[in-house]
Amino acid sequence: MIVCIGSIFLDHVSKVDKLPKKPIKILSKKIERRLGGSAAVASFTAKKLGCKSEFIGRFGNDDASKFLISEFKKNSINTKNSIFIKNAQTSQSYVIEDKNGERLLAAYNDVKLLNYTKKPDLNFNKNKVYSIDSRWVELSEFISKKTQKKKIFCVADLDNFKLSKKIKSIVKNASHPIFSEEGIKEYKKKGNIQKKLLDIYKETNKFVAVTLGSNGVLWIEDGNLYHCKPPKVKVVETNCAGDVFHGAFASALNQKKNITQSIIFATSTATLKCMKSGGVYSIPNLNSVSRFSKKIKVIKIL
Ligand SMILES: Nc1ncnc2c1ncn2[C@@H]1O[C@H](COP(=O)(O)OP(=O)(O)O)[C@@H](O)[C@H]1O
Ligand SMILES: [Mg+2]
Repeated sequence: MIVCIGSIFLDHVSKVDKLPKKPIKILSKKIERRLGGSAAVASFTAKKLGCKSEFIGRFGNDDASKFLISEFKKNSINTKNSIFIKNAQTSQSYVIEDKNGERLLAAYNDVKLLNYTKKPDLNFNKNKVYSIDSRWVELSEFISKKTQKKKIFCVADLDNFKLSKKIKSIVKNASHPIFSEEGIKEYKKKGNIQKKLLDIYKETNKFVAVTLGSNGVLWIEDGNLYHCKPPKVKVVETNCAGDVFHGAFASALNQKKNITQSIIFATSTATLKCMKSGGVYSIPNLNSVSRFSKKIKVIKIL
């Protein structure tokens, strides 16, 4: 079972040929409503790859939350520990996306959601792998500490955060902290990406990774630095690639794959995702991920 904790959004997507340079009226080719948010997309990924999956997040009690909950139900993803806050709006974003996948995005979070910090009662056990992001940072930090004590795997998506004590605590406690490129730049100011990663390893002395878009993933395991680069593919949508990577990585750990196998599995899933548009509705299935994994290579750098 993969338990994903954090961000959930209702994304309103409008597809256009080209993003205009000025604020003018243009025609849209298609509009869609999609479930989004890092942890929510990770929970869909785990389910698509054959794991049992749970999502825990904060919702308002509005039409948006009804739509999102129906999407989780349709996909048999458990939401029983999620919180529904009275008179609050569910997080939503408006996205204008062009045919190359470039986008303009405005995201809205109701402060009533962000200020709600009461933790759900959770039941920790070794059959679960936790996948946390930085949205509900109080709960993510709590989970990173609990899992550390109980020696349970906890994959942390360190993207879109402001550096804080809680974030440092998550990096220290989560068994598998994985930064995005922006995330690692926020966490360590000095040096190039390799130096930042090595500096974090010196502090934590355990696995640490960074995802670098089309440049793949760098990670440190037992003091060695590795690089996994995806093959060059035709990319149509990179939105949510990182979230898919995290869901797939947690699924691989849950299926007892080692680190290298798990990074290859997650890279395969995220790269295939980039080749299709449709957000959470375009996550690849297990068969295509396994086939594509064979094309992915890992090299030891240091
Ligand atoms: N342009 C791309 N081509 C191939 N794979 C990609 C591309 N963008 C992302 N990926 C895959 O998705 C993973 C996560 O993407 P990344 O952009 O680093 O995450 P985030 O969206 O959180 O910043 C990458 O490590 C890679 O495997
Ligand atoms: Mg991300």
